[in-house]
Amino acid sequence: MANTCSFMIYALLKNPAVLQRVLQEVDAVWSRRDFSWEALKQMPALHGAAMETLRLYPVATGHRTRIAQPFSYAGYQLSPGDDVFVAMTVSHFLPELYPEPERFDIDRYREPRNEHRQRGAYSPFGLGNHTCLGAGIAEVEIMVTMATLFYRYQLSMEPADYLLSIEHDPTPAPGKDFCIAVNGIRNE
Ligand code: HEM
Repeated sequence: MANTCSFMIYALLKNPAVLQRVLQEVDAVWSRRDFSWEALKQMPALHGAAMETLRLYPVATGHRTRIAQPFSYAGYQLSPGDDVFVAMTVSHFLPELYPEPERFDIDRYREPRNEHRQRGAYSPFGLGNHTCLGAGIAEVEIMVTMATLFYRYQLSMEPADYLLSIEHDPTPAPGKDFCIAVNGIRNE
């Protein structure tokens, strides 16, 4: 969760136009001190930014698993007991699913694009029977944390032109050289 939030801070500070859209929503909703589910639904830009952060900076890129039932895939025969690595977030970076996949584009998830709804396209929380049970609450926590932080503080990156490095510790996280400065209080 913390790593996803750190990635999202980076992504927003790196994309000022997106940040402005998010701030507009956050200022309108958070100033009413309304922290309800209904309030979150009024923040599609913030939601898109959270979705896009989970796509571009997945913290669970894949996992090892063991085959239970025999099956064949792409010409490979898999047998019970075989160890495999399911690299489930490779699809996040395929241009045939996400045009300009490196672009932080928060409108991918809206009608009519719905790029994440293509089969197997979006899986920051895994796939299948053991998909993350906390996916819903994770999204809410990310949105509430980010809304609160950006509503209250004026943040910038140090240095302003910082380029993200990713460390694996053991899961992906922004490098220890990622620093943000608090330049002031936006709202009490
Ligand atoms: C950014 C936050 C999170 C990410 C990226 C994430 C990702 C994942 C992934 C990839 C899996 C494995 C899915 C699979 O085996 O295919 C998983 C499993 C799980 N997650 Fe999360 N998770 C997050 C937050 C949470 C939170 C906040 C909770 C609980 C409140 C939670 C509870 C679980 C549980 C219980 C499982 C095991 C499900 C099972 O084996 O049936 N996760 N998560």
